[in-house]
Amino acid sequence: MSFVIAIDGPAAAGKGTLARRIAETYGFHHLDTGLTYRATAKALLDAGLPLDDEAVAEKVASQLDLAGLDRSVLSRHEIGEAASKVAVMTPVRRALVEAQQRFSRKEPGTVLDGRDIGTVVCPQAPVKLYVTASPQVRARRRYDEIAAAGGTADYEAIFADVRKRDERDMGRADSPLRPAQDAHLLDTSEMSIEAAFQAAKAVIDAALNGN
Ligand code: DC
Repeated sequence: MSFVIAIDGPAAAGKGTLARRIAETYGFHHLDTGLTYRATAKALLDAGLPLDDEAVAEKVASQLDLAGLDRSVLSRHEIGEAASKVAVMTPVRRALVEAQQRFSRKEPGTVLDGRDIGTVVCPQAPVKLYVTASPQVRARRRYDEIAAAGGTADYEAIFADVRKRDERDMGRADSPLRPAQDAHLLDTSEMSIEAAFQAAKAVIDAALNGN
């Protein structure tokens, strides 16, 4: 049976970086489930289809090919905005969750990151991590990322955006963002990426050794 590591948390908490590093370390397949919502939204936008028609969005979601997902093509702010609109639709979530669950069964193991992995997609996962950081720290990290890439960023605007996305993710009726009861909380506000990785690794190693 495949070994599943479920990673959830709010936007910009560092779960993507952590998930990629864990997958690399253990030789597991990685799926950033946010990309499935982004790709559904992009397909609708590209085809000039409405973002508020559940039946249309469900059809697009059910035809999605998980193999071709690429964050660099899907990172645009407007795609993220559109993704958060399709992510509230139950039929869309049902179709994408099914694809994510199929992915999670790949051998020898998988790492899935998102908002509802430990609670809805893989509730039986032997390892669940809930990665978070204060909104201020998450906004600061995003600001530094943009600045390091040579862009100009407005901290206040980024902070407002982080708060808005938290509200949307946590306030959603279907599968809101929240830690699973048996998730290990990892608050990275005052932790380096390396320290967060070491903390996650300790939890995973213990589970792999049957503790
Ligand atoms: O993490 P992200 O910004 O790529 O996510 C894009 C959108 O999809 C965001 O609005 C949250 C939503 N999402 C979700 O509802 N469930 C997931 N498992 C992953 C992302």
